[in-house]
Amino acid sequence: MSESLRQTILELLAQSDTYLSGQEISAKVGISRTGVWKHIQTLRDKGYTIDSVSNQGYRLLQPPAEIVPEEVTRHLQTEVLGRTVVFAREVDSTNTQAKLHAGEYPEGTIFLAEAQLGGRGRLGRNWSSQPGKGIWCSVLLKPQVRPTVAGQFPLLTAVAIAETLHGIGINARIKWPNDLLIDGKKVCGILTEMVAELDRINFLVIGFGLNVKHQTEDFPPDVRPVAASLEMISGQQIDRAQLLSRILLQLERRYRQFVDEGFEPIRELWKTHTCTLGHETKISRWNQPPLYGYALDLAPDGSLILQLPDGEVMSVMSGEIPLAAQL
Ligand code: BTN
Repeated sequence: MSESLRQTILELLAQSDTYLSGQEISAKVGISRTGVWKHIQTLRDKGYTIDSVSNQGYRLLQPPAEIVPEEVTRHLQTEVLGRTVVFAREVDSTNTQAKLHAGEYPEGTIFLAEAQLGGRGRLGRNWSSQPGKGIWCSVLLKPQVRPTVAGQFPLLTAVAIAETLHGIGINARIKWPNDLLIDGKKVCGILTEMVAELDRINFLVIGFGLNVKHQTEDFPPDVRPVAASLEMISGQQIDRAQLLSRILLQLERRYRQFVDEGFEPIRELWKTHTCTLGHETKISRWNQPPLYGYALDLAPDGSLILQLPDGEVMSVMSGEIPLAAQL
């Protein structure tokens, strides 16, 4: 209750380009002026710069530099995704938290952190997640679909993120199955985890890590040659909370489309955003020798159709194409 009042006060301040008096705010939200002052203090504690001038009132000068749930909510246009935010400045891993607490939260809840101490990547790797640099977020979904299609969710997420970036003038390409690259360097990784029975999904956690504000030296030395951030590449200043709210909107649209129409339209979109098809490639696989071949197509189930050097065509369900510098 008090959080939603605070959110309303924040909206009022954000929409006003002049000072708003405590009296006006208190009349609009229906609490005392002291109550308003307390909420203003809490917003300041969260990092909002709010000026106050006697006889004039309050004015929002700047949102926090850190990613805070209030800012995500302020920009959010979704119906379901991100409507509940579980936020921590620091966690082990947002995916781990989402899996631990999945039963307590509704579909669409996001687990968001400013920093992860044990960020996890695919294939058991670490995911470097310092404070102030990226978007480290896990979305909890409870889709009424068969577990056999779960592998299509990370592709769908990659499409939604690529589309969102495209919308702000950043051309990221999808490397099969779901990495996002700009100029051959990785800017975003997606880790999808599932708890399911044989014929139904209990829940899915889609975690994405998006490098936004890093400079080269912010990455651990071993990933420097293959990683980049949106700001390094685009030269624009990017508001992480606003970008996250846009990603959630696009993800919600694609998720709905997937539930209503199946994977086919998503597959077509994936093909327009990928850099994998039409190239010779290497696929590393867990516990098996790597495969080399020509990437022909994305199969209707999301697997990669590969033509081997002897002409044989096979479809590869899981694996990873190493980044150029790791080949
Ligand atoms: C990859 O290896 O490419 C996947 C990286 C996924 C990182 C994100 S950050 C938010 C979420 N929490 C985690 O621990 N991992 C994912």
